[in-house]
Amino acid sequence: MKAEVAPANEESTEAWSGPLFERFVRFRPYVAEGLGQHGEVAMSVHPPRAGDRVLDVGCGFGDTTCRLAGLIGADGEAVGVDVSEPFVELATEEAAGAGLANVSYRVGDVQIADLGGPFDYVFSRMGVMFFANPVQALRNVRAAMRPGGRACFVVWRRKLDNGWVHEAERVVERYLEHPDETEEPTCGPGPFSMADADVVTEQLAIAGFESIELRRSDLPMRMGADLDGAVDLTMAIGPAGEVLRLWGDRAEEIRPRIAAEIRAVLAQFATDDGVLAPSSTWIISAVAPED
Ligand SMILES: C[S@@+](CC[C@H](N)C(=O)[O-])C[C@H]1O[C@@H](n2cnc3c(N)ncnc32)[C@H](O)[C@@H]1O
Repeated sequence: MKAEVAPANEESTEAWSGPLFERFVRFRPYVAEGLGQHGEVAMSVHPPRAGDRVLDVGCGFGDTTCRLAGLIGADGEAVGVDVSEPFVELATEEAAGAGLANVSYRVGDVQIADLGGPFDYVFSRMGVMFFANPVQALRNVRAAMRPGGRACFVVWRRKLDNGWVHEAERVVERYLEHPDETEEPTCGPGPFSMADADVVTEQLAIAGFESIELRRSDLPMRMGADLDGAVDLTMAIGPAGEVLRLWGDRAEEIRPRIAAEIRAVLAQFATDDGVLAPSSTWIISAVAPED
């Protein structure tokens, strides 16, 4: 399933196929629920139509690809694309196990791959923020769309409104800087690279999209059944988890102190229903121009 990857995306591909894949598998229930609710809002605001041929960009486990397949029905076709082989292998296995005939997946770097268009509708839940060259990737997506087709992307808004990861990041920052030198691969521009509405609007416009609209969506995010679970999650994924991962064993001594401080700040979000913290996304809609 190996695919050609742009040289600038090789390092992030290594991260998404290795340490980040493992972490997302470990926290899958929370990722699926937390990201899932943002994805559901996006699909209800900008749904695909019955019979559409749809592309799910950076599809990960493929939950959204399967959900889209349900919305477009048996006459439609849903294709998930992701640069990470293990994600695509797992998604393919699960869709086959569920007997979904109108779902397929391919490994590909969205920045340069032949995406197999034309598509009537393109969706992505948190899968467009990791390209080294976002304009090139968005242009490639647009070129794979039918004229008049709609794209709907869900991306994180600014960190300040995403307490579910930002509170822990602020603690880690007091102890550790983002290391300049590391053996570990990093995840590319990162989850907050499209948080600025003006920047992302400009990127989409330069990539050739029209009718670009951003809608803010704020929802509480369940980070764990209890504080221990929430501390584990933030120390494994998101900006705090990334800095800790990059420091590796060199941060071993300081980890217990960081964990205790994160626990203390997350206590404000503890409820009888688990740890629920603020999260905020942009639901982006854009149209591929008519010829
Ligand atoms: C935060 S995960 C989101 C996964 C999924 N969309 C979801 O909501 O659960 C980001 C995904 O983007 C994928 N990705 C990163 N860079 C990519 C690239 N250049 N081309 C295609 N997929 C990429 C990663 O492998 C990963 O599966």
